[in-house]
Amino acid sequence: MRSPVQAVLVFTILMGFLPHTLLVFVRELPAVQISVVGPDGPIEGAFITFEHHSFVFQSDGLGHCDIANSLVNRKFAVAREGYFIAHDQLHSKGNTVRLRKISQGDATDYDWVHPLEGEQNCASCHAQIAQQWKQGAHSFSSTGHRFLDMYSDRKKGWSLSRDLPEGKTVCASCHAPGVGAGQPGLEDISEVSGINKLGVHCDFCHKVEGVKKGEVGFAHGRDLLRLSRPEKGQVFFGPMKDATRDDNSFSPIYQQSLYCASCHEGTLFGMHVYSTYSEWQKSPAAAKGLQCQACHMKPDGTMQNIAPGKGGSNRNPMELASHQLMPGGLKQMLQNSILHEEEVIQGAADCMVKVQLKAVNVGHKVPTGYIDRHMILQVRAKFQGEELKPIEGLTLGHWVDKALVGNAGVLFGRPLLNADKQGVQPFWQGGVDIVDSRLEPEMAKSWVWKFPRETESVQVSLIYRPFWKEQELIKGWASQDVMVFEKTLIIK
Ligand code: HEC
Ligand code: HEC
Ligand code: HEC
Ligand code: HEC
Ligand code: HEC
Repeated sequence: MRSPVQAVLVFTILMGFLPHTLLVFVRELPAVQISVVGPDGPIEGAFITFEHHSFVFQSDGLGHCDIANSLVNRKFAVAREGYFIAHDQLHSKGNTVRLRKISQGDATDYDWVHPLEGEQNCASCHAQIAQQWKQGAHSFSSTGHRFLDMYSDRKKGWSLSRDLPEGKTVCASCHAPGVGAGQPGLEDISEVSGINKLGVHCDFCHKVEGVKKGEVGFAHGRDLLRLSRPEKGQVFFGPMKDATRDDNSFSPIYQQSLYCASCHEGTLFGMHVYSTYSEWQKSPAAAKGLQCQACHMKPDGTMQNIAPGKGGSNRNPMELASHQLMPGGLKQMLQNSILHEEEVIQGAADCMVKVQLKAVNVGHKVPTGYIDRHMILQVRAKFQGEELKPIEGLTLGHWVDKALVGNAGVLFGRPLLNADKQGVQPFWQGGVDIVDSRLEPEMAKSWVWKFPRETESVQVSLIYRPFWKEQELIKGWASQDVMVFEKTLIIK
């Protein structure tokens, strides 16, 4: 062991060799300290961010954090889960930041703030975000006409209210999550009123503080989310560590798939109806750390300030999330995520058609979401304008679409077949022989068909359908078909 005297000697000799500039730096080292405290003492793990400075500092077990002298006089924010965000300016000493705690518990008699109308409505300050949200399905999840046509008994065909009336209270937890005990909509969602007619709305989503311990998929929507509605005053939870209002609070959950899982994973009446989150968990996207938000709330670069003229700061547009959940729309997203290759080989005895599909840049199977979503790949061979039936290869079954039975093609979906396997039934009636033939992310699959030799042209197409054709016709809805691609190959 060296004695203290020796150590000082070594130090002095070393300093003699050091260039002058480095000495200045060394002298600066006893940096400025920030102490973060709360009502119960020092706060560990608080995030400290400086304006126009990308580095994120964190407080240690004593609530302390050393900051370089060069940042003195700069403004900073302190954020910690469970506390309101605080703002201050760095002084050369005496930097103690006191964080206010979010009140514990959830005031169930809190009145939701309307996204678009009335006092303190979100759109009055967050106009651009409101515009994005209004266009998406979250804003009409409790009043969408196709949803209500399936839920209520106002139309022929499948109807939860007719087929399984005792199941009517199950849907609100995700489709109208803001409805509380004793409020209209809980017993019968078609009676939903007021703000809850706007489905999954801003204030609901931003009162989520975290996710309860529970089994994802078995507790749904509001029952799995940990809400923190204030008794008095206001609080908005979100992804930002430096939001400027004193009622803002940071929560890491906002940038995690688990947040979405509460509603995008669900076993209902014993049937695994919604499986997007568990598909994501097994996907290459999840392995790469891409959360749902990376694709569905990706910054679009058009928003610079979330509350311009209302106290918002100008920020990097590439760091502000978009609330337009299907950027570019469903059709474009499907087109960008499905690669296809077709090949026709004219043989001596027959005409062989090979089709390969691969889903890319997607975080789950394709299609995903509501259990009835499906796609149909069709291969149609023609000779002198007449359709030729395939000699070999997969054909479409009865349940897909009565007009297409026997045609060469593949179904990508999860049909819930009824007992005689001639038709599909709604998820609330169960179903046998569940086949899941949807495209797996990043896995190429190919199929081969053989047609008669005289084939002159082959048309290959892929359509997406959100509901089974038969129900679409019975309900009298306009066609929901989305043409993903269509290609005609002429054979010489
Ligand atoms: C389904 C729940 C949900 C709904 C509905 C919702 N948000 Fe968000 N919001 C989020 C999530 C999740 C993020 C974080 C996204 C990220 O950082 O990747 C976010 C981020 C934000 C932010 C931070 C800035 C940004 O864009 O990154 C603001 C402000 C915001 N939301 C306001 C609103 C307003 C206003 C509405 C209604 C018009 C709304 N939100 C509707 C979930 C929701
Ligand atoms: C009077 C204007 C105003 C109204 C009304 C308003 N906000 Fe904000 N909100 C702001 C400002 C200002 C910020 C901070 C902006 C910044 O830091 O750039 C903010 C920040 C936020 C954040 C970010 C929190 C974080 O830490 O990530 C969320 C989420 C949010 N608001 C949601 C809402 C919702 C939901 C509503 C409606 C129920 C709403 N706001 C109503 C002005 C408003
Ligand atoms: C409180 C429940 C709830 C939460 C939380 C939630 N969603 Fe949804 N989401 C729904 C419901 C319900 C629908 C279906 C609405 C309809 O079509 O009736 C939906 C629809 C969607 C759609 C289809 C959108 C469209 O316009 O077609 C996407 C994409 C989506 N959600 C993504 C997300 C992502 C990403 C998150 C997490 C950041 C999330 N959701 C969180 C309930 C929720
Ligand atoms: C790597 C990007 C990526 C990630 C991660 C991702 N998605 Fe998607 N998502 C897509 C693409 C592309 C589509 C359009 C193709 C399709 O329908 O599958 C889509 C479609 C959807 C749809 C619409 C389904 C329909 O047909 O109505 C929903 C809902 C959805 N995603 C929810 C989620 C949720 C929830 C997560 C996280 C658990 C998630 N996504 C993760 C890219 C992604
Ligand atoms: C765990 C949450 C959850 C529960 C509970 C739930 N849903 Fe959904 N529902 C969703 C999500 C998420 C989507 C959107 C998925 C997508 O876009 O593909 C959706 C979409 C739908 C759609 C398609 C709407 C459209 O316009 O495309 C119908 C119909 C539907 N749900 C019916 C029901 C019924 C009926 C119940 C009650 C028995 C119910 N849901 C319960 C989460 C839920």
